[in-house]
Amino acid sequence: MAALNQLNSQQAIELENKYGAHNYHPLPVVLCKGEGVYVWDVEGKKYFDFLSAYSAVNQGHCHPRIVDALTEQASILTLTSRAFHNNVLGEYEKFVTELFGYDKILPMNTGVEGGETALKLCRKWAYNVKGIQENKAKILFAENNFWGRTLAAVSSSTDPSAFKDYGPYLPGFEIVKYNDLSALEKALEDPNVAGFMVEPIQGEAGVMVPDEGYLKKAYDLCKSKNVLFIADEVQTGISRTGKLYCCQHEGVKPDILILGKALSGGVFPVSAALADNEIMMTIKPGEHGSTFGGNPLGCKVAMAALQVAVDENLAENAEKLGKIFRSKLTEFSFKSNLVRTVRGKGLLNAIIINDNEKSDTAWNICLKLRDNGLLAKPTHGNIIRFAPPLVMNETQLLDCVDIIIKTLKDFEES
Ligand SMILES: Cc1ncc(COP(=O)(O)O)c(C=O)c1O
Repeated sequence: MAALNQLNSQQAIELENKYGAHNYHPLPVVLCKGEGVYVWDVEGKKYFDFLSAYSAVNQGHCHPRIVDALTEQASILTLTSRAFHNNVLGEYEKFVTELFGYDKILPMNTGVEGGETALKLCRKWAYNVKGIQENKAKILFAENNFWGRTLAAVSSSTDPSAFKDYGPYLPGFEIVKYNDLSALEKALEDPNVAGFMVEPIQGEAGVMVPDEGYLKKAYDLCKSKNVLFIADEVQTGISRTGKLYCCQHEGVKPDILILGKALSGGVFPVSAALADNEIMMTIKPGEHGSTFGGNPLGCKVAMAALQVAVDENLAENAEKLGKIFRSKLTEFSFKSNLVRTVRGKGLLNAIIINDNEKSDTAWNICLKLRDNGLLAKPTHGNIIRFAPPLVMNETQLLDCVDIIIKTLKDFEES
């Protein structure tokens, strides 16, 4: 065991390559420790984490209050399954539903299970409440959505690298253009449409921020046709964009709200679908669930993670630092040939590199950023997402902006 702990980066990468499936293409850096906004590699080099495990670590790495909740509960009771009650689940359910303003929560583990749960709720509601004929319900998805890797998720994907060779696909799904209200309005003319599932900002698509007013108008259009507005806030939720969840920027309360990732501060897989009784009570005992969903360990961790987000004003911090970040990088982009666009909300931001999607410029920039002590990852070839933990302070952010701008300048000149 001691020998395994002493692996250098090269050895660790070789082990993964030899014994693990090659279903990811990670940046070559091997991390062994995290604290707040920092992570360390096995050679002892320290980095700013500008990905936050795809926005799961909003509260910072190994937040002491969340880790305490985990370790304390871990030696008391970890899992009962839902065959029995446990003494933490109800407390957690009360806490979350009051915080987000819903009648009920259905607890799951990963983000994609939260999405699956939302879709099953939507179909149940379609048949039991809306009155759609059996097996005729349709659910609309936005083009370029990303909500995970299950067969349902890839059946609604428009990205060949997500869906190719995984057919046959699930029926009853339809695609509408993102940020296009007339496309949505047209699709909603079909009386069999039961729901519209959408990310308020498309994270994996490259931090696509829709026009102001889009979410509110999309919500209103759905309401006018008795269609459920389902918000996938797995990446945008828990303060990332400057509000507890992103739809709040436009005063929208989704019919179903999907949360994951930072719901547990990245400490444990915890996800959830939240809805009011009319929707949630359509699922009866035995009709949906998961062995681990609602386990006391995850519940304690999630309560601590949410309390940290509230107590440490992470939404306000994300809003404030995000504005500084975008203004500094936008200013730089005016003088640079390398950066085409800077976009985002709160601390979910991206720059578009002035190159085509097939080029490796963004990847090479991320390698240089790594060498300069900051970890970020390209998405779609020419986009670099910047999403640090929300516990970052202004001085740290300005240091990071310096690293990013210096790296981009050096890259431009090289
Ligand atoms: C918006 C969104 N929804 C759902 C998911 C799936 O979450 P998980 O990977 O935990 O299943 C992701 C993951 O990146 C996501 O970004």
